[in-house]
Amino acid sequence: MIKPDAVANGHAGKIIDHIITAGFQIKAMKYIHLTEEQAGAFYEVHKERPFYADLVSFMISGPIFAAILEKDNAVADFRTIIGATDPQKADAGTIRNLYAKSIDANAVHGSDSDENAAIEGSFFFTAAEIF
Ligand code: RTP
Ligand code: MG
Repeated sequence: MIKPDAVANGHAGKIIDHIITAGFQIKAMKYIHLTEEQAGAFYEVHKERPFYADLVSFMISGPIFAAILEKDNAVADFRTIIGATDPQKADAGTIRNLYAKSIDANAVHGSDSDENAAIEGSFFFTAAEIF
């Protein structure tokens, strides 16, 4: 996902270009404003964490781009190009280093495993929407 801060700040196009240039293929993409229920369900794994409520309210603060990406070693390579969760700790040239301001408004989300990528992909897309 390209999160609401990056969309609102006009960075979505540059982030999509960064992702494609890094060798990822876009298999599906959608521009969507999540409801509180949808964002809560998407981040269900973090329900018990102290930042859950802030995370959900941030994720519904504006529209996002959701995408399914394909590449060899996609999960690990995507985390490399997005950088650390806290943009202050993200390596130079990573998406969060370039386009994010804070740990809450950190520009992008990446799946943390192939299994979760499949679950998260099906959260947004039907089989007919994946190319
Ligand atoms: P994401 O899931 O969004 O790709 O981020 P991530 O794996 O790098 O980080 P994760 O631990 O999964 O946390 C999900 C999102 O919650 C917010 N967060 N805030 N205040 C905090 O300590 C804190 N920790 C995490 C971040 O926006 C993070 O992206
Ligand atoms: Mg995560």
